Amino acid sequence: MLLSFGQRWRENCPMKHFKAIAAMSLNRVIGAGGKIPWHLPEDFQWFKETTMGNVVVMGRKTFESLGKPLPNRKNLILTRHPQRLIHQHPEIFGQYHEWRSGRYLKKAYQFEFHFTKTNKGQQTDILIFNSLEKLNPSDFPTEIFICGGSEIYEQTLPRCSDLYLTLVKREVAGDAFFPPFEDRFVQVEEIRDTPEFKILHYRHRSLIPSEGQVTQVPE
Ligand SMILES: NC(=O)c1ccc[n+]([C@@H]2O[C@H](COP(=O)([O-])OP(=O)(O)OC[C@H]3O[C@@H](n4cnc5c(N)ncnc54)[C@H](OP(=O)(O)O)[C@@H]3O)[C@@H](O)[C@H]2O)c1
Repeated sequence: MLLSFGQRWRENCPMKHFKAIAAMSLNRVIGAGGKIPWHLPEDFQWFKETTMGNVVVMGRKTFESLGKPLPNRKNLILTRHPQRLIHQHPEIFGQYHEWRSGRYLKKAYQFEFHFTKTNKGQQTDILIFNSLEKLNPSDFPTEIFICGGSEIYEQTLPRCSDLYLTLVKREVAGDAFFPPFEDRFVQVEEIRDTPEFKILHYRHRSLIPSEGQVTQVPE
């Protein structure tokens, strides 16, 4: 069978994937009333250190619940209504310079909105995308972390090579849940264990040589 140039390129080059980072309770809760229902400063510090300088991908609801972009990172917001999001939040977007060219990406995306702000030499960006399908981790020079919420984890976990999961050691009431992932991922490391939570590193089953022949996460 003849392969196209694109197929050959993809077969010969290691693919870059998304990585997911999340925190869930024993009963899989990740959110309640639009917020994260616990306060664990040590876990927030871990999240900050891990994502700093990288791309953080989040759904519109998570972005609105934060109320501002995460500093010193490229915040990639998913919404099917980018203009509406921008118009509804002048208090956020009004502080930013808007670009139209996609100059920080290897290629410009058709529906991209790009805002940037530099404060004391540190740059924070907001990129707004209206489709997950258009997102390709290889287009970004840094790591690209999926940061929630439920809807976004659900759609992207199949495309993630790694999952960094904080397991909060208690049951919590909530309305947003982490999707099932155990059939796709294998725990490869316990990064931290504290009285209140554990940080676990999972890797996509298909990237673990002993788990089978396949070496590529499905796109
Ligand atoms: N514990 C944790 O680790 C963690 C992390 C993050 C968030 N959370 C919690 O999770 C909850 C929010 O999760 P959620 O599921 O309700 O909302 P979400 O995933 O944050 O955002 C959902 C929104 O994302 C947009 N969207 C979803 N799929 C899309 C696609 N394929 N293309 C373009 N846009 C898309 C839509 O925005 P439009 O409606 O604008 O089109 C949709 O309404 C909150 O409670 C938050 O605190 C917890």
